[in-house]
Amino acid sequence: SGQRLPHPPGRLPIVGDVRGLDPRRAFQTFVEDAAQLGPLSACKIFGQQFVFATTAELCAELCDERRFEKGFTPAVIALRDYGGDGLFTAYRHEPNWPLAHDLLVPAFAKTSMERYHEVFLQVTRELLDWWGATEGPVVVGKGMTKLTMESITRAAFSRDFGSFESEQTHPFVHAMVAALRAGQQQGTLSAAPLGRLAIARLKRKNAHHLAYSERLVDDVVSTRRKEGGDQEDLLGIMLEERHPETGEALDDTAIRNQILTFLVAGHETTSGALSFTLHYLLQHREVLARAQAETDEILGADPDAEPTFEQVPKFRYLRRCLDEALRMWPTVPGFARTPKQEVTLSTGHRMRPGDWALIMLPLVHRDPVAWGEDADQFDPDRFLPERSRGRMKHSYKPFGTGERSCIGRQFALHEAVLVLARLLHAYDLEPDPDYQLRIEERLTLLPEDLTVRLKRRVPVA
Ligand code: HEM
Repeated sequence: SGQRLPHPPGRLPIVGDVRGLDPRRAFQTFVEDAAQLGPLSACKIFGQQFVFATTAELCAELCDERRFEKGFTPAVIALRDYGGDGLFTAYRHEPNWPLAHDLLVPAFAKTSMERYHEVFLQVTRELLDWWGATEGPVVVGKGMTKLTMESITRAAFSRDFGSFESEQTHPFVHAMVAALRAGQQQGTLSAAPLGRLAIARLKRKNAHHLAYSERLVDDVVSTRRKEGGDQEDLLGIMLEERHPETGEALDDTAIRNQILTFLVAGHETTSGALSFTLHYLLQHREVLARAQAETDEILGADPDAEPTFEQVPKFRYLRRCLDEALRMWPTVPGFARTPKQEVTLSTGHRMRPGDWALIMLPLVHRDPVAWGEDADQFDPDRFLPERSRGRMKHSYKPFGTGERSCIGRQFALHEAVLVLARLLHAYDLEPDPDYQLRIEERLTLLPEDLTVRLKRRVPVA
């Protein structure tokens, strides 16, 4: 109802808008198509409709918490096989969302962050030792994924996954990526003819990945139950704490869902953000030089100096680089919104509860109405306070919005700034001169095959 949604030209019967759709870069194809089709558009794949919101103005409208809430795309629904009613995939009416939210918010407050700071320092040491021992260029994504994986498992569950002890990526990461890919495929097949058969086949193929992940998590929980240990980490809170008002606690299934959620939500996103930031620093030597001047000013002459907890927020320039990288390529490239009651949008389109629109962050983040005509340029100083002040509300949303926004935002930002500061202070970075940015799509976005050559540097103090 309302106006009809524009869609890409050349729609085919049954299969829909599959012309030119490369399944390995489906999101990027959607972005390119939607950019041509106005603020709100649709595309249909095997009968499943996807609705895309592309402008900062429409994003602001959809972020109005009084009228809209988190929406559930088929891909997020498929993820429920994995995360169940864990924080990320829970429907708002499920009792475990408010329960887990209230129990876990304190686990990201300042006193907890001070404890995680020590974990971040330690895993950064391990990454730099690991890279330092490598001849030739290092693979950025691989190292960053080891780092973020170790920091979430150690900070949240006090468990060392031994990522730096082997050249290989931890098998959990492979299982997770496979499970996420299958989830996305399921999402596009949900309305296809024979889709249910195809989904059943995917689920069978994927079952051992899921079983492996669940075994791993159950082992983390049962070991803790047997041996006790750090009661103040996320796992300790989930096992020990009762809700202050209702006295309720999370049961074993809920705890497993939360752990899987944190393992997934907590590491690939941050790893991608670190990798994109490094990519832009490698492309913009003058930005890199300013960031290094800042590390010299704060950390001084010792290239191996480590920032204190209080120093991390002082890396203002580095933080702007990270913010700007997340503007250009938000690693969670979209989130969906659904109306609480039937609404007519400013575009004239009607939406009913259950309908959803996916906010296409790479387009919103480069909307010239909000960001100016140079929106495609990497310019960290956009985030200077004096230049941010007049910016359109809700035009920058890498961590989502409202009550369902990212619970791990501070965790990710503190970790990322700390790692970048240490890396840039200790090393000069040399790019592969032939590198062209290609974007790999998992559930998140990552720069594909980015490498860097590291040379020990002497800080200018
Ligand atoms: C939710 C982005 C790091 C845990 C979200 C959402 C976004 C996001 C966009 C909202 C999704 C939606 O509306 O559907 C990011 C980015 C990160 C990051 C870009 C890194 C740069 C983390 C970390 C953790 C985490 C480190 C855990 C330690 C979660 C959880 C939710 C969430 C549990 C669901 C919250 C809820 O619905 O109650 N994140 N995230 N994220 N994130 Fe993050």
